[in-house]
Order: sequence, then structure tokens, then C-alpha cells
Amino acid sequence: MEIVILKGVAQACQVAARLVESLVREKPDAVLGLATGSTPVRLYAEMIRAHCEAGLDFGRVRTFNLDEYAGLPRDHEQSYYRFMREKLFDHVNINPANTNIPNGLAQDIPAHCRAYEDAIRQAGGVDLQILGIGANGHIGFNEPTSSLVSRTRIKSLTRHTIEENARFFGGEDEVPRHVITMGVGTIMESRQIVMLAFGEKKARAVADMIEGPLTSYVPASILQMHPNTKVFLDEEAAMELKRSEYYKWVYENKPAWQKF
Ligand code: PGA
Repeated sequence: MEIVILKGVAQACQVAARLVESLVREKPDAVLGLATGSTPVRLYAEMIRAHCEAGLDFGRVRTFNLDEYAGLPRDHEQSYYRFMREKLFDHVNINPANTNIPNGLAQDIPAHCRAYEDAIRQAGGVDLQILGIGANGHIGFNEPTSSLVSRTRIKSLTRHTIEENARFFGGEDEVPRHVITMGVGTIMESRQIVMLAFGEKKARAVADMIEGPLTSYVPASILQMHPNTKVFLDEEAAMELKRSEYYKWVYENKPAWQKF
């Protein structure tokens, strides 16, 4: 894991967006794995900026989202389908036919999950996966104790995640109890992972992910086994790391050819 601690959210998202941009320029039909939640919003704004101001072409880009709430129709204001349109897809020249989000209303959920895995495989796998982390260490909606080799499937949310997401729904009772999420094993097959985490509330999970033991109790800790993961943090999210001075030193002293 490469740990990059930057001054704030804006700077972290600018650097992360440069990684996405250089991938798409190099491989115009790149497969991006996308995340929702509050964390990636600024990154998507930077991607939109790269499209509008620097001509970044999304015309052949393909995308797979991590997850969706089970039972929510696509036009529900909290569906991740709607989120992606509002925060990214409607503002760049992406072909809607090239975007994939699990269908919250799938009748046969196991069959839908298998088809989602097949579609990722047929696209050649995910080149770059954007990830956030839950305050409980989840990635996607893989809650603590999720199998570390799991595939796309239905999951039940923890009480903690329901409480965390209640703010978007106007109350806990409105938050769906079930979700469809890429599995931990699915995420681990991405060729490159860009994890973003901001704010004090994420500090414990970030420290457990980076410096704690590898355990399904902190699903994000599996990223210690991923060969190409970069973690972008602001100072607050990095607060509980024991080795933050070392990570900063490494970043500041990267050989010129390795900088991004
Ligand atoms: P957040 O969620 O970006 O809204 O903090 C992150 C996550 O739960 O993965």
C-alpha cells in the first residue's frame, strides 16, 4: 500500500484525479470501478473538470459501480444509480450503455450478481477501482466479517452503517436493510485501487486497515495484500497512524520518475 497524506480533501482529490486522467489518456476504453458516498464527490468534480477544461474523453470508458441498495428503484433520490448520474455521468461524455450499477430491483438477485461478475470479466476486469472506507472498515458494502474472498452478492447492513446513512434518507427507518455489493474478492481483482478517506471519523478504520492485522473484521485490511493500492488521506484521517511521518517522507522523496 502506498500511503499519501495531503493537507486537505481538495488536494487529495486533485492528485487522485490525475491518476484517473492519466489512465484514461493512456487507455481510452479503461474500465473504472466507481464508488458512491460523500468521499468521492470531490474526485468526480475533478474528473468533470478534466473533461470540460482539458478535453478528457470518456466516450469509450466503461464503468462498474461497487454497490446499490436492494429494493430501491433507479429513480429513487438515494439510489446510487441516481447519485452517479448527478455527480458524474450527466456531466461527462460517457455512454450510458457503458455504465454498470447493480440493479436494486433485480428479481433474481443471485442470478443478477453472477451476471454482474460475468460482465466485469467480459470487460477485461477493472483497471482502476475507486474506494472509500466505512468508519467500521467496510469497503463497498462488505461489512465486518465479510468473507475476504467474497464475490458480488446480497448483504445485510450493520446497524452502524444504517445509522451512518440515515442522514441521506431522513431517518434510520427509511434506510434499506439490504444491498447488492461487489465482494471483497471482486474488488481485490482490480489492477489498481485508489482509496480515499477524509476526516477524523475515518481515522480508526484507516489505522486498522494500514497498520492493523489482516482480518475480515476490518475488510479493508485485505488491501495489504493488493499489489497496487494507493491510499489518499487528509491529516485528520491520518491522525491515528503510527508511521505517518514515514509515509510523508516516502511521498516527499519519491524518485522523479515515480511521481504522480
Ligand atoms: P462515505 O462512505 O464516503 O459517505 O463516508 C464511505 C463508505 O461507507 O464506504
